[in-house]
Amino acid sequence: MRFNSVLIPCFLFASAVLANARRPQQFDLSETPTVVIDDDHRAGATWNLSPGTFNHVHAIFAVPAMTSVNGAQSFADVMVFIDGAGATNCPNAILGVGVNFHVEPDGNSHITAILVTNPNDLYNTETLDIPISVGDLVQLTIVSSNATTGHVFIDNLTTLRSVDKEAQLTEPLCGQSAGWVVSQANAKFPRTFYTLANFGTVMFTGVSAGIQGGIAHYPYGATLLRMRGHTIPSPWGDSTSTTSSTIAFGDSSLWITYI
Ligand SMILES: *[C@@H]1O[C@H](CO)[C@@H](O)[C@H](O)[C@H]1NC(C)=O
Ligand SMILES: *[C@@H]1O[C@H](CO)[C@@H](O)[C@H](O)[C@H]1NC(C)=O
Repeated sequence: MRFNSVLIPCFLFASAVLANARRPQQFDLSETPTVVIDDDHRAGATWNLSPGTFNHVHAIFAVPAMTSVNGAQSFADVMVFIDGAGATNCPNAILGVGVNFHVEPDGNSHITAILVTNPNDLYNTETLDIPISVGDLVQLTIVSSNATTGHVFIDNLTTLRSVDKEAQLTEPLCGQSAGWVVSQANAKFPRTFYTLANFGTVMFTGVSAGIQGGIAHYPYGATLLRMRGHTIPSPWGDSTSTTSSTIAFGDSSLWITYI
């Protein structure tokens, strides 16, 4: 399915003006069959290819209003990343950037920009100093210079504020995997279950990953992750939720919907 015709003009304008410098030359790769797999805690799209395929990831999304589920403290991360669990050659390495949502039962939301790296076998989350609000148009970019040094960028296309943060990685990246996801797990505590916030629809546009200035891969043809959620007892007695999501995608857009 393709949604090019529904891209909102201001998205195109903002992304054309502000993003081109960091976007790779785009080649129209042949379309491959869609593979959809179930995942416990992520929904979105991921490419798992050869090492050295990715040093650049990009996407723009409008920050959605999220709601709490079952009266519980609810969480979701909207992230783009290089490597991580899908990279069989370096599953413990990750460089990610995105936005963490924490919605309280009274509806109060805390929205935080985050950098995710993986020092050991535990994800490490660092807060980035850029305020993010519902409705903001946020651009996420990762560029890794080499296996152990990368930059993450968050640009608020609504206010033109930006953060450029250098990340030093103790686990070397191999550039084998890249993706765009909504994640249930709070990256900081991968083994802890958090109630997934109702994230409505997260719509990524301008989505690409590959070698900066080189070949780009789009969500079309990537492995799609369908979140199947799970229910396990929470240490705090919060009710947990069983959730899933569905995905629509086009050449460079990816929609992830909470259902
Ligand atoms: C992004 O823009 C919105 C709208 O002006 C604003 O409310 C929000 O705080 C902004 N974030 C930054 C980084 O200024
Ligand atoms: C990786 O890139 C950074 C930034 O360009 C540079 O300072 C560093 O020396 C590089 N490291 C290696 C191992 O090449």
